[in-house]
Amino acid sequence: MQQRPGFILWFTGMSGAGKSTLSSEVLRHLAPVQRVELLDGDEIRTYLSRGLGFTREDREENVRRIGYVARMLAKHEVGVLTAAISPYRSSRDEVRALATRAGIPFLEVYVQASLDALIARDVKGLYKKALAGEIPHFTGVSDPYEPPESPEVVVRSDAETVVSGVERILDTLRDRGLLA
Ligand code: PPS
Repeated sequence: MQQRPGFILWFTGMSGAGKSTLSSEVLRHLAPVQRVELLDGDEIRTYLSRGLGFTREDREENVRRIGYVARMLAKHEVGVLTAAISPYRSSRDEVRALATRAGIPFLEVYVQASLDALIARDVKGLYKKALAGEIPHFTGVSDPYEPPESPEVVVRSDAETVVSGVERILDTLRDRGLLA
């Protein structure tokens, strides 16, 4: 396997938008040609961010930790994919700035879906609970989600297939010289 430069592919989007699905598909495509790692929100919260909740402060801390580990890995030529809601623009901009300062390419992938589509989909049943007031600080319902202003890639998961989203992400990596 020829080694390529590291990078951070930062997936952001509301709960159930498809961050995990898309990032794990991209990972599957990259794994044969690049050293890669996926830092998935749920797993991060089980280990690295155990004990953190969903206040603004805790979410910012979560994103900071993910950004730190992502930079450590990317410095060693790992292509890092992260999949956390990361709802605050300022936090995402901060991790982007730190990566850029370290010379690490940082690409933001906005996984977008309308709230109506997410409520209709509701795979984990969380929207139903949040709308009933049973989950405080729920992103998109009782807590904000600040969409990226200029993401490198936008995937409309309520209007396109996973395959087409994955293709566009891989094309973007290729355009940046990060994938053969
Ligand atoms: S964040 O904002 O980046 O720190 O969030 P993240 O670490 O990605 O965790 C999101 C997952 O936690 C579950 N969950 C909630 N999401 C949003 N708001 C609230 N209040 C909340 N409580 C629990 C939810 O299953 C998210 O998973 P995904 O994979 O995004 O659906």
